[in-house]
Amino acid sequence: MSAQDSDWFEPLYADALAQGDPGQIPWALMEVTPYLQDWLEQAAPESTGRSAVVVACGLGDDAEALANYGFEVTAFDISATAIAWCQQRFPNSSVHYQVADLFQLPPDWRYRFDLVYDFRTIQALPVDIRPEVIEQIAALAAPGGTALIATYIRQSETPPDSAPWPLTLAELAHFEALGLEVVRQDRFVNRDSRFRDRVRVEYRVPQAVGTASR
Ligand SMILES: C[S@@+](CC[C@H](N)C(=O)[O-])C[C@H]1O[C@@H](n2cnc3c(N)ncnc32)[C@H](O)[C@@H]1O
Repeated sequence: MSAQDSDWFEPLYADALAQGDPGQIPWALMEVTPYLQDWLEQAAPESTGRSAVVVACGLGDDAEALANYGFEVTAFDISATAIAWCQQRFPNSSVHYQVADLFQLPPDWRYRFDLVYDFRTIQALPVDIRPEVIEQIAALAAPGGTALIATYIRQSETPPDSAPWPLTLAELAHFEALGLEVVRQDRFVNRDSRFRDRVRVEYRVPQAVGTASR
């Protein structure tokens, strides 16, 4: 992991906020991600008294949806501007928004959350650190918990020259190599996007922790 891998996000958010224009952030939907909304309506586990963490939460819409569903939500991003913007957008939110680097997370977050949710962070970081990124995300999940990962996928072995770098299914399978079990996998196609193919995978995190892989 090199600092440069994540350095470009903060200036992009800062410029967009300075101009009051979230439209400058290519990934900002300004509403809950349909893949999360659909899962909450159809498949989400009990939320009462349960914690959730939103990895690299961007402008916060997914974190808010999880909080509205009943989870006690922590949401983090490496961009201080993104986090400030979340707090500005949702002043009465129950979400604990926090600036944090996925590679230097507070130690007490390890194995802590009942639900770990990520949309489009893995693909935003270079392919050569992909296993490490997946390991950091997986390590947030408590034993017996759930990880919900939604991402763009690519068919070609060769990644694009610039971000984002959609995942191959083989790269995504690193979650299983770490011991997480697939509960359900749903594929989606967005014909309006140059990143047509997407997948959402719900994993169950094994009860036994402390194995070599976790
Ligand atoms: C493509 S955006 C996705 C944001 C949000 N998850 C979404 O889908 O709208 C990637 C996010 O990862 C954040 N990020 C990049 N590197 C990070 C790191 N090392 N730790 C935490 N967040 C990071 C960026 O600031 C950005 O908000």
